[in-house]
Amino acid sequence: MTLAYAVHPGGALTGRVRVPGDKSISHRSIMLGSIARGTTRITGFLEGEDALATAQIFRALGVRIEGPDSGEVTVHGVGMHALRAPHRVLDCGNSGTSMRLIAGLLAAQPFDAELDGDASLRRRPMRRIADPLALMGARIETGEGGRPPLRIRGNPELSAIEYALPVASAQVKSALLLAAMYAKGTTRITEPAPTRDHTERMLAALGYAIRRIGATVELAGGGELRATAIEVPADISSAAFFMVGASIAAGSDITLEHVGMNPTRTGVIAILRLMGADLAVANEREGGGEPVADVRVRAAALRGVEIPERLVPLAIDEFPALFVAAACARGRTVLRGAAELRVKESDRIQVMADGLAALGARATPTADGIMIEGGALGGGAVESHGDHRVAMALAMAGLAASAPIVIRDCANVATSFPGFVDLARQAGLRIREDRA
Ligand code: S3P
Repeated sequence: MTLAYAVHPGGALTGRVRVPGDKSISHRSIMLGSIARGTTRITGFLEGEDALATAQIFRALGVRIEGPDSGEVTVHGVGMHALRAPHRVLDCGNSGTSMRLIAGLLAAQPFDAELDGDASLRRRPMRRIADPLALMGARIETGEGGRPPLRIRGNPELSAIEYALPVASAQVKSALLLAAMYAKGTTRITEPAPTRDHTERMLAALGYAIRRIGATVELAGGGELRATAIEVPADISSAAFFMVGASIAAGSDITLEHVGMNPTRTGVIAILRLMGADLAVANEREGGGEPVADVRVRAAALRGVEIPERLVPLAIDEFPALFVAAACARGRTVLRGAAELRVKESDRIQVMADGLAALGARATPTADGIMIEGGALGGGAVESHGDHRVAMALAMAGLAASAPIVIRDCANVATSFPGFVDLARQAGLRIREDRA
């Protein structure tokens, strides 16, 4: 069965909406809760396929996990050294975060394991973790071209490394930090630009000593984690679709509640503001070691901008939505320094350029970015290529389009945003699901 979205043009986004829990934090809450001592109670957990894949993997590694039930999960942590050898291949589904982070953890265990995933994940680069982990003593065999599956021969005798990340990637940083907890010595990882720091924050919350000195994060092996309560904020990456939708749809006035506002994730707000968006951040507070706030978004006349390169890692998952904003803005938007977008769940530069072109926009892909001339959007049929964020971004384009849009291959929206269609429809998007 295939799932398509049919979006009727027009409408506006209004009301108050809480989008599902943060995907990155949900993954980490299972991973770290599993190897902590004691019981971790998680609230606000994302019940999306990616985070559920992580939970299934830890169950296969011998961890008792209850839920999720209305966002509540209980993880009965086994401590640092009691994961069990799995009896089957560990299926990461569509989730790069599951594969890369869990590979770091498994590299240090006294047993072997194999990680695999769906067709999209099987196209994604894994040498970026396999190579630095090998420097620590890990034995990871990749599939052809450095892609999944990953066959990991566990080695409990890893050694610390000092490593400068060649790409700004929180997944690589986190894989190394997970391995480093088991390694002899102090591991130091230097980032070329700041990336999301949820792993570091959660490690600290669970009592593991971790230090940041400028662009370097350092951690000594041999420590322990103590279970604690983890509250997952709403995912700013999911909220981003509503931020863009409300910005481009005249008459919109929507409030997104309890959104994670970690400064390593708020690039989308900075970029939309540069474009002239009307975003008001209120009720800022702290929840579970992460800043959260409510974000009110009203329609505004957007203008094209040159996106500052330093903001790219801070908005890395929000570019499909931002490209839709750019297509509805006055003037040209230019993105550079974002080659990473080509190795996400799809080649987001090419796939979005094709999608926007099908809707009548002028979008020119470049090696490491895109140029988009703002203007009017028509309608038409577009392909999401099974990429959840492409599907949701193109759905929001319907708010500013002059004719219906059909988006094909949308089932993977459930990886990060279960209930997207219902929530978007409640807010005012004229969207319908078509199953064939
Ligand atoms: C993630 C990091 C990002 C992001 C992904 C989730 C994470 O990937 O695109 O959706 O949870 O660490 P990179 O760090 O590889 O850019």
